[in-house]
Amino acid sequence: MKIITSIDELKTIIRKEKQNGKQIGFVPTMGYLHDGHLSLIEKASIENQFVVVSIFVNPTQFGINEDFDVYPRDLERDQKIAETGGANIIFHPTTKEMYPTGYSTYVEVEKITEKLCGASRPGHFRGVTTVVAKLFHIVTPHRAYFGLKDAQQVVVIQKMVRDLNMDVQIVPCPIVREADGLAMSSRNVNLSIQDRKSALILSKSLLRAKEIVVAGERNAEIILTQIKEIIATEPTVTIDYIEILDFERFEKIDVLKGRVLIAIAAKIGKVRLIDNIILEDL
Ligand code: PAJ
Repeated sequence: MKIITSIDELKTIIRKEKQNGKQIGFVPTMGYLHDGHLSLIEKASIENQFVVVSIFVNPTQFGINEDFDVYPRDLERDQKIAETGGANIIFHPTTKEMYPTGYSTYVEVEKITEKLCGASRPGHFRGVTTVVAKLFHIVTPHRAYFGLKDAQQVVVIQKMVRDLNMDVQIVPCPIVREADGLAMSSRNVNLSIQDRKSALILSKSLLRAKEIVVAGERNAEIILTQIKEIIATEPTVTIDYIEILDFERFEKIDVLKGRVLIAIAAKIGKVRLIDNIILEDL
């Protein structure tokens, strides 16, 4: 497995692989890889003959008071994990390579980016779609793999691909969790031991919500109240949002029906975490 930092060099390699008839799988990441990332890399390796993993902590998707500076980084460790998953290349550009002096072009998906994380992190999705559009142009993958841990990100990327007629298949992949239920995240490493325990309340509350729905409850307000009560048992956890949406229309709903997303964002200490659950066939 090679580490490539130059856009031109990567483009040349990809061109050759495509000439040899290889299908290209792509997993964009910000590094500090864990089993969630690994699951995407493994799936990409099964479905494609050549797999590129990008590792780039993208400054344009972080707000000025967010955690860009303390976002964890460890390329050596990432290299081993990516290789285990079957990656052929790590693309690890510098910020200057991606955004040279004078850079001034951005990609923005409207409307659905105003909700959930878009509302609490203004400009975040503009940064995500911009970097992902650039990466798609550089890697020109047949398939790109995204985790449903960031459910809104998947929906936003799918919309960008449709709206801009991009020739790439987006493959959504399930959330990978720690043994106790906490959704894996590169940011978990920044939790104190106590906060790591408190953070468990997010997945616990979602699991409880699922139980309530399976038992027959369909009233969104009642389910939201239950989730809030459960999270309130951990006073160090501050809710950013908890919402119940129709997953297809990405609209808030009062009554659960069809495919439904229950999404949570919360701050535990200084760390902002997100989690969600998708309920099907209601
Ligand atoms: P990052 O947070 O590194 O995540 C990279 C990919 O891994 C995303 O598609 C994310 O949804 C997926 N992922 C993270 N945790 C996961 C888990 N526990 N289970 C399954 N998949 C998981 O998302 C980003 O980076 C960036 O916004 C990026 C798309 C790379 C653009 O900069």
